[in-house]
Amino acid sequence: MKNQLVHLAELYQKTRQKTMLLVEPLEVEDFVIQTSIDVSPIKWHLAHCSWFFEEFVLKELKKNTPVYLKNNYNYIFNSYYYSKGDFWKKGVRGNLSRPLLKDIMSHRNMLDEYMHELFQSHELNQNILKLIEIGIHHEMQHQELILMDIKKNFSLSPLEIKYFEDTNLSKIDINNEKYKFHHYEPGLVDVGNNQLNEFFYDNETPSHKSFIQPFSISNRLVTNREYLEFVQDNGYKNFEFWHSDAWDWLKADQIEHPLYWKLQDGLFTQFTLYGKLDLDLDQPVSHISYYEASAFAEWSSARLPTEQEWEYVCSITSNESKENFMEQEIYEATIYEKGQQITGLRGNLWEWTKSDYSSYPGYKKPKGSLKEYNSKFMCQQYVLRGGSCVTPKNHYRDTYRNFYYPFQNWMYSGIRLAKDC
Ligand SMILES: [Fe+2]
Repeated sequence: MKNQLVHLAELYQKTRQKTMLLVEPLEVEDFVIQTSIDVSPIKWHLAHCSWFFEEFVLKELKKNTPVYLKNNYNYIFNSYYYSKGDFWKKGVRGNLSRPLLKDIMSHRNMLDEYMHELFQSHELNQNILKLIEIGIHHEMQHQELILMDIKKNFSLSPLEIKYFEDTNLSKIDINNEKYKFHHYEPGLVDVGNNQLNEFFYDNETPSHKSFIQPFSISNRLVTNREYLEFVQDNGYKNFEFWHSDAWDWLKADQIEHPLYWKLQDGLFTQFTLYGKLDLDLDQPVSHISYYEASAFAEWSSARLPTEQEWEYVCSITSNESKENFMEQEIYEATIYEKGQQITGLRGNLWEWTKSDYSSYPGYKKPKGSLKEYNSKFMCQQYVLRGGSCVTPKNHYRDTYRNFYYPFQNWMYSGIRLAKDC
């Protein structure tokens, strides 16, 4: 338990510091805006992560808490936990100018001091350590959300703002090398997580056997070049490739290309955290909704993989030479290598699967308020696998199940194709 305590104390400190490093390039005004219902003001993310520790850890220990609960800020910084009381609506978080950023920052520091004292004390039992661990991983999830939201907010400004002044993206020319399908035989495969020595969420359990039919999966992510062919082949104008809901979405929002593409003088640009760049045709296409991923797969005479197929391929592809997580500080998806081998499974982009997000056989919700963390979202969403270039490596597992609604596209999501044989 002593080693576990030291490990968690270090991970807590590193994670909290990393969050502050991520927001360092921002000016005060950047922390306040909320440009769509999907994003949250950056200062809300900062406060909410502290609220989580305060509500789930300190309150559990019946500590006098620093600020939030006393000032009834619980109402503002509770995200969606009905068991923790009523909360301010997500879509209008940006309407609130108070509390001030400086107060949120000083609360963060105060909370860190409380947590530091807690790590030194002898009050921590396994239950509290588990809650702290979830709080740390929760903040890692918000680190990814912070980068997603900064990108969305900046993309909508006519001032062409850059989060990073200089791009460190390396260009790789894969020169029209076609993706290749790898074939797999049918069989029973292991799905889910039962590792005792690593953190995982309840939605990855219980581990179980799943039967997969023969299938093929592509060796790499779909590139901008390949997706551009779909766009130029009137892919967004032909209902035959789209689900009915998808076609309605596309028509209602007049969508004709991926979220961050922009047509200028006959050529597409893409918005990145490095500002507006020419569309890199050899880069994986990103910020794709499930609707778009499915339509592209249909146009390609293929389909999306199931999450069981994806996890199986990942389990036998442990030798990827390069990964691309947040720690690489590249912040865009890349394809590193030419060749036929399976590549880019881990990091780069979350990969859409055709699996709807539901519970595994024998799943049991956690007890207490944390049953609201994952299980109540098991309705009308789809699973994405593999992590992204803005996912902290420490937060990733091959069994990780991310999930979004089929119309959402501001996350770092991409496409890997599959086939039935
Ligand atoms: Fe949260």
